Amino acid sequence: MKQLSLFEIPSTADKWQVQNFSADNFGEQSARMSLEQKLIDITVVSNDFNRQSVSYQLSKNNCLHRWLKYKEGFSADLVKKLLLEFEIQVGDTVLDPFVGSGTTSLVCQMQGINSIGFDILPMSTIAIEAKQSVYQYDLTEIKQLISEIENLLMPENYSKRTPYITITDGAYPENTEKEIAFFTEWNENSKYSKQAKNLITLCILNSLEKVSYTAKDGQFLRWDYRSKKMMESAEYRKKNGKTPLVIRLDKGNLPTLKQSLLEELNSVFQDIGSIQKNARPNETNLQFIQGNALYELPKHEDNTLSGVITSPPYCNRYDYTRTYALELAYLGITDEKIKRLRQELLSCTVENKPKIDCIRENYAALGRKNDFDRILKIIVKNKTLAEVNQSLSDRSTKGDINNKGVLRMVNGYFAELTFIYAELFRLCKSGAKVAFVNDNVRYGGEVISIDFISTELAEQIGFKPVKIYSLKQQKGNSSQQMAKFGRVPLRKSITIWEKP
Ligand SMILES: C[S@@+](CC[C@H](N)C(=O)[O-])C[C@H]1O[C@@H](n2cnc3c(N)ncnc32)[C@H](O)[C@@H]1O
Repeated sequence: MKQLSLFEIPSTADKWQVQNFSADNFGEQSARMSLEQKLIDITVVSNDFNRQSVSYQLSKNNCLHRWLKYKEGFSADLVKKLLLEFEIQVGDTVLDPFVGSGTTSLVCQMQGINSIGFDILPMSTIAIEAKQSVYQYDLTEIKQLISEIENLLMPENYSKRTPYITITDGAYPENTEKEIAFFTEWNENSKYSKQAKNLITLCILNSLEKVSYTAKDGQFLRWDYRSKKMMESAEYRKKNGKTPLVIRLDKGNLPTLKQSLLEELNSVFQDIGSIQKNARPNETNLQFIQGNALYELPKHEDNTLSGVITSPPYCNRYDYTRTYALELAYLGITDEKIKRLRQELLSCTVENKPKIDCIRENYAALGRKNDFDRILKIIVKNKTLAEVNQSLSDRSTKGDINNKGVLRMVNGYFAELTFIYAELFRLCKSGAKVAFVNDNVRYGGEVISIDFISTELAEQIGFKPVKIYSLKQQKGNSSQQMAKFGRVPLRKSITIWEKP
């Protein structure tokens, strides 16, 4: 491996090394400490990656990659750099088990690299279908449909409404609710090509938040003060002698669906035009399966991948099924289905129930019970994981964690990820590299180094830890944790492993 010159060696502080894992020296931390000492040696701070490259920010200005507004996505730039670093060649296959908006798959397609991807959300299917067709769109057709929409008027007596679920009830002004249904019906019945229709669906999806009384905000939707929900709550507070809420969301003038849809379509039209001017990349095989990576990966063939570039849901209570409730309801997901979808998420919310029995059944059905037992043994025997689980349980008894779901989430998160890591190991060819983008977390004063614990689990599976990129910008501490336990470094990292 290339030796770093003296000037390239970052100071220990830059790597955000953790000095104390358990606030007030409350619990055992020796396993986490010794893992930290061991892996800090392969931790590097690089100028190549920063907070923007591991987030959606760079994609906002990026043709194609901005087509699905997906704040949880990473940038095309990050994928390009990693493909280069991994020396991936035209015709190789790269996998992303958590596709989201499809950044890895689409960058691969543009470079003539085959890809496989999974995601449980239906928005990924729409986004991937729309983006992978970029060279096939007929610009004349898109122009024609834009001009038809410009002249389209919803009849005054139109009465259908777009479907909603409990948590999206009242999300749109009354007329907009009808407009969404009207344009959707028009799209379904139109004579445009399948690809053009899917593009319209994508543009409607991208419009939903803009035309609604809601705003995506971390773990949930915030509501404008004019929405039925907020007006009823204000009324209730008044009736019960409570002071009005101080913080209120005011989204100002909301565009109509037609305005927003046209804006979105004009923007993708421009992007298609400029991308089609470039030389077409080699034909590739872009395979996307809408499904749970935990159950899909075990079905795939050994030794087929040249690389993996991915970012799983973070272990931070973020619930995609709530943040994307408008989009899911639009795509026909009912209250019942959304609950099931939430349980399909890799355990990243306090509502997730353990999946281990379902995983066991899946392996048994595939005739791979021994593999299940072997992977489970790695999880159960990992001392760092055991220390984290014990500390969280003790913290919970002490009252430092107010929701027991956190314990279940952390435990399930690592267990499920270990099954993913083990399957990736099996699918990778010798020499293939794997990159995981993730954030470390802290609950009840206990630091959980997702990057290092994952690397340890990956090593126990058979991967060789290559390096851990620690970003210069660390993750912010939550205000509650900081007030109670003080500030600690929480790394944002990209872990790189290799199958020997
Ligand atoms: C951090 S996002 C990935 C973003 C992606 N890198 C991009 O650039 O858009 C994590 C994704 O994992 C998906 N996910 C969560 N649990 C999953 C599971 N069990 N199987 C497959 N995908 C899952 C979520 O729906 C989400 O889209």
